[in-house]
Amino acid sequence: MNVIVVGSGIAGLTAALHAHESGHVVTLVTKGALGDGSTGFAQGGVAGVYGDGDSARQHARDTLDAGAGLSDPAAVSILVAEGAARIAELIARGVAFDRSPDGQLLLGREAAHSHARIVHAGGDATGAAIARALSAAVRASGITVVEDAFLVDLVVVDGAVRGIRTLVDGTLGGLDAEAVILATGGAGHLYAHTTNPEGTTGDGIAAALRAGADVADLEFVQFHPTILDSAPAFLVSEAVRGEGAILIDADGRRFMFDVHPDGELAPRDVVSRAIARQAAAQGSPVRLDATMLGAEMLAKRFPTIDRVTRERGFDWAHEPIPVTPAAHYLMGGIVTDLDGRTSIPALFAVGEVARTGVHGANRLASNSLLEGAVFGARAAAALRMPASAPLPAPTRRGDDPLPDRTTTSPFSRPALQQLMWDHVGLLRTDDGLAQALDVIRSWRATAPAPRDVAAHEDANLLLLAEATVSAALRRTTSVGAHFREPALIGV
Ligand code: SIN
Repeated sequence: MNVIVVGSGIAGLTAALHAHESGHVVTLVTKGALGDGSTGFAQGGVAGVYGDGDSARQHARDTLDAGAGLSDPAAVSILVAEGAARIAELIARGVAFDRSPDGQLLLGREAAHSHARIVHAGGDATGAAIARALSAAVRASGITVVEDAFLVDLVVVDGAVRGIRTLVDGTLGGLDAEAVILATGGAGHLYAHTTNPEGTTGDGIAAALRAGADVADLEFVQFHPTILDSAPAFLVSEAVRGEGAILIDADGRRFMFDVHPDGELAPRDVVSRAIARQAAAQGSPVRLDATMLGAEMLAKRFPTIDRVTRERGFDWAHEPIPVTPAAHYLMGGIVTDLDGRTSIPALFAVGEVARTGVHGANRLASNSLLEGAVFGARAAAALRMPASAPLPAPTRRGDDPLPDRTTTSPFSRPALQQLMWDHVGLLRTDDGLAQALDVIRSWRATAPAPRDVAAHEDANLLLLAEATVSAALRRTTSVGAHFREPALIGV
């Protein structure tokens, strides 16, 4: 079968390798260079190696708890059952996870995990090690790789996907296929502050929406609690808190236990909101105190964070560092079944672009690389298999009709990102969401037809912004990462 994989993070690379190894003719199309994208930025690791007293069952329980009751238990069972095989595969493909002197995998702990079960590589450079190893495997495999190719749209013929339209060096082109696997990642650049690399503009979800695919749960946007308060955004891994670092207010007081019995290791949404509220109350960023871990340990276990904080003028071994939340991960996306199939025949989605049901309303830390590997492999295996069951509910389209409006303010990407940050961020109100929807719709109604990559990205961001705000308005109660409150408090 002729297969196109779009995207080259862990999900796309895994899908491409598995499809190729099963005898399919694979073309991997990627927006930047092979292996660019969010995977390479992942610090924390891959959850799923079970030490004493831990089990896949307990991992499933933690995942379901983090998902706030909205995860699909069948998808979670698959994640934890197949995780070990995918981690073993990563090792076989050359990912050198960190080990103790006697050769055992070192296991880290992150928020809302009941046990240390996260493998990491290069201390805090896990994603980079994975992206390197899988990209090298793809290069060595003979898979055709098309870099710097922007996904303009999916080609749908007689109701099934039959290829993609691309923009390469300013020229529109196309590639035919019998199946397309989208692995284009999330949409962090909807927001003014994000951990996501440049180019994370929701291109795959937007193309799927235009083609008529079902999407769901776009209102569930995860904000990572601890981004160094210094531009450009730089994530300070949750594993630092897992090792014992604490969050303190302007008076040096530990405040997380006022909010949650698990303190700094409470679920991510809880920690992010507490940090935002505390920062608003004190008029300055809260601080992460890792000094008790010692300079030697910090440099060895977190070499990337150690280097970057020092480059930015912070000596975290001796003083607490200022931290603030930022948009990190999209739990929702293109609705898939347990094998990555979407509502459009011959279209698959894997990784952050997909809504498999694993994450529910809030993703458990270090489950994203795992999900990419597990469902990337499953989608490749399913290419020739007929669907066995209808797609799970809920399925919602995000493309409400546009109202007839005139523009009230000029569109710019930073203006959209600030609007989303202010009104569709950590804390959401009915008025704020309605106001944001009005502005986004007026911008969409007057946007010119996109001609270059930046304009296509803007159109994708606007489409997703509208779908996200509409979804947030529809979900009138707070759950997981979606938090509704009567009035904004100034974050
Ligand atoms: C982190 O290292 O804190 C991020 C890990 C994740 O998002 O899963």
